[in-house]
Amino acid sequence: MAGQIPQHFIDDLLAKVNIVDVIDQRVTLKKSGSNFSACCPFHNEKTPSFTVSQTKQFYHCFGCSANGNAIGFLMEYDNMHFVDAIETLAESVGLDVPRNQQAAQARTDSKPLYTLMGSIALYYQSELRKSTEAIDYLKARGLSGEIAKRYGIGFVPDGWDALQKQFPQEEAAMLKTGMLIQGDGGKRPYQRFRNRIMFPIRDRRGRVIGFGGRVMDNQEPKYLNSPETPLFHKGSELYGLYEARKAAQDAGSAVVVEGYMDVVALGQHGIENAVATLGTAANQQHSESLFRTVPTIVFCFDGDRAGRSAAWRALTATLPCLQDGRDAHFLFLPDGEDPDSVVKAGGAAAFNDLLTTRIAIIDYLYQHLANDIDMTSIGDKAKLAEKAKPLLATIPKGVYKQLALRRLESLIGLSLGSDRAGAPAASANVRSPRAQDAALTPMSRAVLLCLQHPEVVQALPVEHYDISPQLPGADVLLSLINDCNDDPGMNTARLLERFRDGNRYQYLVKLATKPYFPDGRELDSETAINEFVHSITRLRERSQQSLVDKVELSARTGLLGLRRR
Ligand code: UTP
Ligand code: MN
Repeated sequence: MAGQIPQHFIDDLLAKVNIVDVIDQRVTLKKSGSNFSACCPFHNEKTPSFTVSQTKQFYHCFGCSANGNAIGFLMEYDNMHFVDAIETLAESVGLDVPRNQQAAQARTDSKPLYTLMGSIALYYQSELRKSTEAIDYLKARGLSGEIAKRYGIGFVPDGWDALQKQFPQEEAAMLKTGMLIQGDGGKRPYQRFRNRIMFPIRDRRGRVIGFGGRVMDNQEPKYLNSPETPLFHKGSELYGLYEARKAAQDAGSAVVVEGYMDVVALGQHGIENAVATLGTAANQQHSESLFRTVPTIVFCFDGDRAGRSAAWRALTATLPCLQDGRDAHFLFLPDGEDPDSVVKAGGAAAFNDLLTTRIAIIDYLYQHLANDIDMTSIGDKAKLAEKAKPLLATIPKGVYKQLALRRLESLIGLSLGSDRAGAPAASANVRSPRAQDAALTPMSRAVLLCLQHPEVVQALPVEHYDISPQLPGADVLLSLINDCNDDPGMNTARLLERFRDGNRYQYLVKLATKPYFPDGRELDSETAINEFVHSITRLRERSQQSLVDKVELSARTGLLGLRRR
C-alpha cells in the first residue's frame, strides 16, 4: 500500500506538519533547551528521556531508543498502519492524499467499518440488558455490571438475522467485517454469532475491530472469533490491551493470559493489567507490542502439557525482543487452574501469591533445556551449550545477553571464551571518548552531519562533491547531498523517510540520533559545517586515489546533475 502514495507527497507532508504539535496532542511536552521532552510513552520511566527536536522533526528516547518522525510516531503510539498515519497527518494540515482508485476505495470503506463495529458493540450491550439468561450467566461467573461495561461485554440473540434487522443498510459492510456469512447458492447472508456472550476486541486506539463470542452452555465451539478481516488480524492483536494500558503502565508490567474470561475475571478483582492472545500462541509481534507499553511481561500458562509448549513458543518469540531494560517472566499455574478459577476461589491475593512463583525467562530457558540432560557428564554439558547457543544468539546485544551467557558458563562450569563473539560488548557503553570518536569513518561522519544538519551541504560549492561512488556508503551520502542541495528547508525527518523501506534505514536512524560528541555536548551549526567540510575533504582525498574511480566519477556527477537552486 505504501508504494501507492507518491514519495513527493510524503515529503511535502513532512515539510508541512510539525512533529511537536503531533506529539504534544498525545503526550504533554515540556520545552527543554532547544528541544522538547517528556517521560517516554514507549517505556516506563520516572525521569524524562524522550526528546522531540523541532529542527530535526524527529523524536528519540535515550532510554529505550524508540525514535522516528511524525509518521513513525503515529505508527508506534497509535498502532497505526503507514497509510493511516499518512492520512491522519494529511487531514491535520488540510492536505488530500493522492492515491490510486483501488486504494482510495479501500480507505473510504474502512472508516464506516470501524463506526459500524462500534455500533454493533453498543447494540450487543443493549441486547445484554434485555436478556436475563445472559445476565445470569455473567453473574454466575462472578462478573459485575460495572466490569461488563468496562469491557463492553454484550449479548447476541439467537436466530439468523438479528443484526440485519438492526442494521438493514449495512449487509455488505457486515459481510466484510465477518459479522455475516454469505449463504450458499445465493441464499441470504446470516449471522456468524448467534446466542452468545459477546466480547468486543478493541485495537490500541479503542476502536472495535472484532468480537469473541462464548456459548452459555456446553456447545461447541465454546468460543467463536471474528475471522481475519481488513480491520482484524488476530496474530497481532491482544484482547484487553486498550483497557489494560493505563494500569499496565502504572504497574510497569503486563500479564499475558490465555482467555477472554481470564482477562475480565482478573479485572473484576482489580488486576487490570492483563491481556490475552486470541486463541493463538504469543508471538514476537505480541511481545513487541507489549514492550512498547511496559518494560516487563509476565506470561501466564496452564501447568499442563499444552501450557508448557505454548510457554516455550512464547519464550522463543520473546528472546529477540529483550533489549536492555526489558524483562519477561513465566508463571505456571497449578494443573487444571486458570487465572479466572484462581481469583474466583481466592481473590486477587491468591493470584498475587502465585505471581511470586514466577520464573525469569532465562531461568526457564535453562530449566527447559536441561530437562532431559543429566548435568553430571561433560558430554551432556556440551549438549546443553549446543542447544542454548542458537537461542542466546537471538537476544539483542546488551546486559541481558551477557547475563544469559554467564549463566550458561556457570551451568556447564567452563568459560566459553572466544565463542562469545556474539556477546555484548559491555565495553560498548563505557568506551573512552576517543574510541567512540574513532568509530565514525569520514563517510559515516559526513552522512551523520547531513542527517543532523542538512544545511551543511549548502556550505560547499557543488564541485566539491566529486566523491567516488565506489567508496562504501557513497551512494547514500551522494543521495543525501542531492536532496539537501535541492531544498534549503530540508530536515532530518524528511531525509530519513526516503530510506524507510530500505535495509539501511535503522543504521541511518542511528546516525541521525547519535550524539556527535561523546560527552553529549550539543553540535551547533557552525561546528557541524566545519566538521562536514573536513570529512568531505578526507573523502575527496580518498576518491583521488584511484584513476579508475576518477573516470567513473565524471560520469556519476553528470548523472546526479548536481546544481544549486
Ligand atoms: P479455554 O478453553 O481455556 O477457555 O480457551 P477459558 O478462557 O478458560 O474460557 P472459559 O473460562 O471456559 O469461559 C482459552 C482461549 O482460547 C480461545 C479463546 O480465545 C479462549 O479465550 N478459544 C478457546 C477459542 O478461540 N475457541 C474455543 O473454542 C476455545
Ligand atoms: Mn476458564
